[in-house]
Amino acid sequence: MRALLTGGAGYIGSHVALELLERGHEVVVIDDLSNSSRESLRRVEELSGRKVDLYVADLSDIDATREIFVASNPDAVIHLAGLKAVGESVADPIRYYRTNLGCTFTLVQVMREFRVKKLVFSSSATVYGTIADLPVSESSVVGQGITNPYGQTKAMIEQILQDVAVTDPEMQLTILRYFNPIGAHESGRIGEDPRQVPNNLLPFVSQVAAGVREEVSVFGDGFATPDGTGVRDYVHVVDLARGHVAALEASLGGVRAFNLGTGHGSSVLQVIKAFSRVARRSIPYKVVAPRLGDVAVSYGNVVKAAEELGWVAQRTLEDACRDAWRWQLANPYGYSSQANSFVPERLDPKPDGCGVVPPP
Ligand code: UD1
Repeated sequence: MRALLTGGAGYIGSHVALELLERGHEVVVIDDLSNSSRESLRRVEELSGRKVDLYVADLSDIDATREIFVASNPDAVIHLAGLKAVGESVADPIRYYRTNLGCTFTLVQVMREFRVKKLVFSSSATVYGTIADLPVSESSVVGQGITNPYGQTKAMIEQILQDVAVTDPEMQLTILRYFNPIGAHESGRIGEDPRQVPNNLLPFVSQVAAGVREEVSVFGDGFATPDGTGVRDYVHVVDLARGHVAALEASLGGVRAFNLGTGHGSSVLQVIKAFSRVARRSIPYKVVAPRLGDVAVSYGNVVKAAEELGWVAQRTLEDACRDAWRWQLANPYGYSSQANSFVPERLDPKPDGCGVVPPP
């Protein structure tokens, strides 16, 4: 299949691109490079020995998106593009609603114009909000008690896709609800490259282990969990990427939602300890006040993905920490060659390639 990945140069997108190429699919990427870099895809080409067509464009530009569909003629779309920083979404909700919903409107409209029927959407377990009973399953209530606009955009897009499926029953819409993606490709060549101070736990822990930051702030130890710190279901990004391949290859009608997680949780302290073991160094931390909107525990039932997609997460928390650490050591400034050297890229709806000649 020729898959068009929106946001395909980002953390999850680059891992999805690599897994798709390794399964023999073709990959085309639309990305505005606002929180990603073309270097990630250059490395994907290097690892796979295959070519990726990168179109540097803004998905809310409908003419550019149409041009890209004409040029690339995709069989299916994996929609990963969107803004994803929770705190930022609270500070600037309109930007989040405009961007995340707007680019989905454009994408779905253009897909329908070009009769592309298959869409895999990058959603989040955050759509279960704070009131669903644990472990959440795909039939749990969605959209209630969501604590931030970022999470709302995911729930709203899911609803929009449900409505689209009613008007166009031939559409195959697969919603993937990620738990907490962590880790990096085992080569250490692609991984998470936060532009600012990381919001999420793992990249922060990794930077403390590397000495870039002084200590981890543990957001509360008074939760109703075994050690009092928050519990999450951390899923290795390569497993998550394999879940997208499974979703793309499955023949599913209508709208289907799947939890992608391991099915069990780890606490903040367990994560710090696991990282400390694999990195063989102590990781200083201090307990601070809980972060607004955080729930005590989040993990999901993942049986549906196993039964209907044949997908099960295979990698452990230790595997993810080891791979994240390998990535951190080999790329102390992420994809940049030095700290803070990010320069915004031009927007260009022409295929860009990544400048790598595949090996013979
Ligand atoms: C967060 C978002 C979620 C989003 C996901 C993307 C919130 C409320 N939720 O999930 O919508 O889909 O990221 O990956 O922000 N922690 C610390 N110290 C830190 C950072 C985190 O103790 O410096 C704790 C948190 O309190 C939590 C756990 O680590 O218990 C994981 O946090 P994080 O990585 O930010 O993910 P979530 O909050 O689960």
